[in-house]
Amino acid sequence: MKIAKWVVREHVEGVPDVDRIYQKVVEDVDVALAPDEMLLRTRYVSVDPYLQGIALDTPLGGHMGADSIMEVVDAGPDAAHRVGDLVQGFGGWRTHVISTGAAEPWQTGTFPMVFPEFRRLDPGWYDDALPLPTALSVMGGPGMTAWGTLTKYMTISPGATLVVSGASGAVGALVGQLASIEGARVVGTTSSPEKADHLTALGFDAVIVHRHGDEAGTVRDALAQAAPDGVDRYFDNLGGTVTDAVFPLLNVGAQVAVCWQWATQVGNEHTGPRLLPYLMFPRATVRGIFSPEWFTEENWRDLHDELGGRVRRGEVVCDHTLHHGFDSIPAAYASLYAGHAANRGKVLIEL
Ligand SMILES: NC(=O)c1ccc[n+]([C@@H]2O[C@H](COP(=O)([O-])OP(=O)(O)OC[C@H]3O[C@@H](n4cnc5c(N)ncnc54)[C@H](OP(=O)(O)O)[C@@H]3O)[C@@H](O)[C@H]2O)c1
Repeated sequence: MKIAKWVVREHVEGVPDVDRIYQKVVEDVDVALAPDEMLLRTRYVSVDPYLQGIALDTPLGGHMGADSIMEVVDAGPDAAHRVGDLVQGFGGWRTHVISTGAAEPWQTGTFPMVFPEFRRLDPGWYDDALPLPTALSVMGGPGMTAWGTLTKYMTISPGATLVVSGASGAVGALVGQLASIEGARVVGTTSSPEKADHLTALGFDAVIVHRHGDEAGTVRDALAQAAPDGVDRYFDNLGGTVTDAVFPLLNVGAQVAVCWQWATQVGNEHTGPRLLPYLMFPRATVRGIFSPEWFTEENWRDLHDELGGRVRRGEVVCDHTLHHGFDSIPAAYASLYAGHAANRGKVLIEL
């Protein structure tokens, strides 16, 4: 059968130039499954900023990895899932996948990690209120990242000020809404006035318009105004000048979650750590977030019940921006970096 995939043909640092990096390849594949293998058809693909690092670590000619929802269309007698099952896993930018669905180590230049085994999606969990694509958003990695941080590390007291950088994305918007429900004053950053209005509609108390490369003094002044009582909690997706501006405002007992560092990883700003005195005096805690540590059956169930319940009751909004068709994957991915006002929440491609 014919299987299409996007492969990495060039390693390009910085903001992804998708026309240079990716090439579509169509192969005629003999689908003779081993007893423990499955043939899966990709239904939805997630595009995420961390793929920038994955692309750099993918051997040239290798297919591009990504989180996806797949349907089992054929299975050997000993396979982990049955025909018709829907699974979520790191299937990548491929129309079809032949795999056992076992966990796969990923020895990157950055940090060795493991892509978890394919997870069967319980059809009873998905309906009009929580449609299937939410397995890649609020009921998937982004949801686990936001909910996990706020239930397993970061404590929120009513009246506390929480800042989220890169707040308009799938993770940041959830963190802001959940903290707001707990009574925090929530301040977000995003790159356009339209997205700022959207975050205000989601319940953010103040939104700062900031894009990587903007002048440091502007964001510093805007933050001082938006957080006049200092910052108690900081959920960091961006690093760089926003983080430089937040640290001097940290209050005693502050907690910082480092979820991503756009400035370093994409912006190539290899500066720091340079503001550690601002952690010393307020006795602040900084913790790296790597959400796969929370990918357990028990946590998926709790996430479904707790955060899923909030989405069902209309207490939390989970936006999706859906692109259509295999050929649109690179452009959908590029849109993450373009600051398009049109993107809301999780960006996905339906195949
Ligand atoms: N550590 C972990 O375990 C973990 C887990 C999940 C995700 N992540 C990472 O956490 C980050 C947030 O995830 P997500 O799913 O929310 O991603 P997302 O939906 O793509 O959102 C990314 C955010 O980055 C902002 N951004 C993009 N380009 C920017 C630029 N040039 N200057 C300033 N801001 C920019 C976007 O802001 P605008 O829309 O306003 O431009 C958006 O708010 C991602 O980098 C992701 O890779 C980490």
